[in-house]
Amino acid sequence: MAFLPQAVGYLSYFFNAVNEHSLHTPFLYELYTKVIKSSHLNGDYSEIEALHKQLLKDKHNISLTEFGAGSSVNTNNKRSIGDIARNSLTSPKYSALFYRLIKYFNVRNIVELGTSFGINSLYLAKYEATNVYTFEGCTNTANIAKTNFEKVGATNIKVIEGNIDKTLSSFFDGSIKPDMVYMDANHRYAPTLQYFELILKNNHNNTIVIIDDIHWSEEMSKAWKEICNHPEVTLSLDLNRCGILFFKNDLSKQHFYLTF
Ligand SMILES: C[S@@+](CC[C@H](N)C(=O)[O-])C[C@H]1O[C@@H](n2cnc3c(N)ncnc32)[C@H](O)[C@@H]1O
Repeated sequence: MAFLPQAVGYLSYFFNAVNEHSLHTPFLYELYTKVIKSSHLNGDYSEIEALHKQLLKDKHNISLTEFGAGSSVNTNNKRSIGDIARNSLTSPKYSALFYRLIKYFNVRNIVELGTSFGINSLYLAKYEATNVYTFEGCTNTANIAKTNFEKVGATNIKVIEGNIDKTLSSFFDGSIKPDMVYMDANHRYAPTLQYFELILKNNHNNTIVIIDDIHWSEEMSKAWKEICNHPEVTLSLDLNRCGILFFKNDLSKQHFYLTF
């Protein structure tokens, strides 16, 4: 039954999630208490959230370009902006966590796979030292994101349009090594693994990779499990909705479910 693997993922989280009392590595204890569970690094997100609210109320329809498995592309789907905003955007709780991580680790170059209307991109770009490279395949969607970036005067975001299957490798040819990657585009097993392998060839010791919707489907649970077991991943954190990966070679391999 289709719901079962998803339920298993959520149940594993529910029964295994721990808090700071189970974290004995100083790096992880500090990260959890000062960033993941603490709000002291939070910013003022009111301007971004005002845009988010406008999108939720917007009843205009747009035509979407959707990417399926392999090279199939569907351009026939029309949906309201409000409906897309309700179903596709990262929740403010998680976007705020990404902002705190960026600030805490002084992250500079960020890759976001899946822009949608750019609300999460604006959180990523809020710490002004960052350069955000956000990837979107649907032109109508990307145009709304670009308008949103102009509305708040965010000049540190570059939208890379086209199918990520092609655009990500060309982007990495330009020799940018990302400090953070947020994978929130094609929630299928094969592309998730394919993008992860590409990121691994271009990351560095302190790169942070965040994967959204790790328990959303059987395919995503499988991809997440395999990625956590990859020898280059030294710390994997399951926050239920998303997973965070570290590659630091001074950490010994560990996996945690964390209460968030
Ligand atoms: C879940 S939404 C992204 C939400 C956004 N990160 C946020 O939190 O506001 C996923 C987006 O990825 C785009 N996408 C999915 N597969 C893609 C692909 N293969 N190439 C380019 N864009 C893709 C979709 O068009 C959609 O806008």
